Amino acid sequence: MPGESRVALLPGDGIGPEVIHEAVKVLQAVARRFVLELGFTELPIGGVATDATGTPLPDVTLQSCLRADAVLLGAVGGPKWDHLPGPARPEAGLLQLRRELGVFANLRPVRLFPSVSGVSPLRAEVAAGTDLLIVRELIGGLYFGQPRGRTDDGAVDTMRYSAGEIARVARVACSMARGRRRKVTSVDKANVLETSRLWRETVEVVAREFPDVTLEHLLVDTCAMQLVRAPAQFDVIVTENMFGDILSDEAGAVAGSLGLLPSASIGDGRPFLYEPVHGSAPDIAGKGTANPIGAILSVAMLLRHSLHRDDAAATVEAAVERALEAGVRTPDLGGQATTVQMGDRISEEVTGGAAVAGRAAPRISLQRGQTPK
Ligand code: NAD
Ligand code: IPM
Ligand code: MN
Repeated sequence: MPGESRVALLPGDGIGPEVIHEAVKVLQAVARRFVLELGFTELPIGGVATDATGTPLPDVTLQSCLRADAVLLGAVGGPKWDHLPGPARPEAGLLQLRRELGVFANLRPVRLFPSVSGVSPLRAEVAAGTDLLIVRELIGGLYFGQPRGRTDDGAVDTMRYSAGEIARVARVACSMARGRRRKVTSVDKANVLETSRLWRETVEVVAREFPDVTLEHLLVDTCAMQLVRAPAQFDVIVTENMFGDILSDEAGAVAGSLGLLPSASIGDGRPFLYEPVHGSAPDIAGKGTANPIGAILSVAMLLRHSLHRDDAAATVEAAVERALEAGVRTPDLGGQATTVQMGDRISEEVTGGAAVAGRAAPRISLQRGQTPK
């Protein structure tokens, strides 16, 4: 349909479908309020895709993602597939998708909502003011470097970065800092790793293009410590793929729950990918208690970065805050709300009774992706 924005939905495994259901509910509430025309196509990825087709990223899924305006993903993986060899694992499908979409910069904002600050394991005065953005390099480093695999008596993974791969993510971090508090902390292990020494040099060069942004360097072990000692000191953290993976889960705990964190993975040209930071949470999957806020705030990022609707994105973010302030909380936040109740409340806050008068009703088309036999 002309004018329609096409969103590829990849619920995946474990709590993935549970949180994506609520994220779509909120997106539909946004579509009603702002009269957006959205079309959804649901596609298999991860373990469920392996079970159905023998591969964690079926071609129909990849091709539909490449044709979409944005991709919204839940989570992949789980104990059922942990015995599979590396390339057949659900996680391999996600890594391939990120690579095929060329999404080299993964934006992971972490903000402490004052209404749930009591849930943070840190003392209130330590956690107060946490508002940072991790910019994680997403399609390079140890996750992708060759050679990798088993040798006669061991195993090998390779950390490899080109200056170009570092420069493009550093540029994203510096640009993002301009819209924030103009400080970038580049995190590496330059006292040991050659890739980190190249990282540091390259970030220095890029930062000269941004004289209004302050750059500092921190070793990753120190950064992990500073994140729990004084998290409010950070504005933008830019780091390589695996350091960013680890630091973002740590930052999730600082904010009170990993279940709160969203992400946007951006590149150039191809569609962007949106996913909560958490995984498939096998320990709570199927119970209906997962926190959908990470997925819902990922929808806000989708509205901002792919559909260029800052107004709608801000509405979703405000709705999440209001729902939390009202005391609606899933168990990870110390409450008893179900995933669905949390999604319902946030959707109601989006709709807010504020009918947009005199506009046409939005058209929402839902199409189920065909699972190839
Ligand atoms: P996890 O993030 O799934 O869970 C870690 C802990 O956080 C668990 O106790 C879980 O219950 C809790 N948690 C996570 N999300 C939550 C939410 N929304 N609400 C409430 N609690 C939540 O990490 P894990 O257990 O180490 O990994 C499980 C599987 O998920 C693995 O197969 C892993 O590879 C995969 N994984 C996938 C992604 C992804 O698809 N992007 C991300 C991380 C892990
Ligand atoms: C994440 C996850 C993934 C990663 C896994 C599932 C491949 O932990 O998105 O943070 O390490 O990138
Ligand atoms: Mn992770």
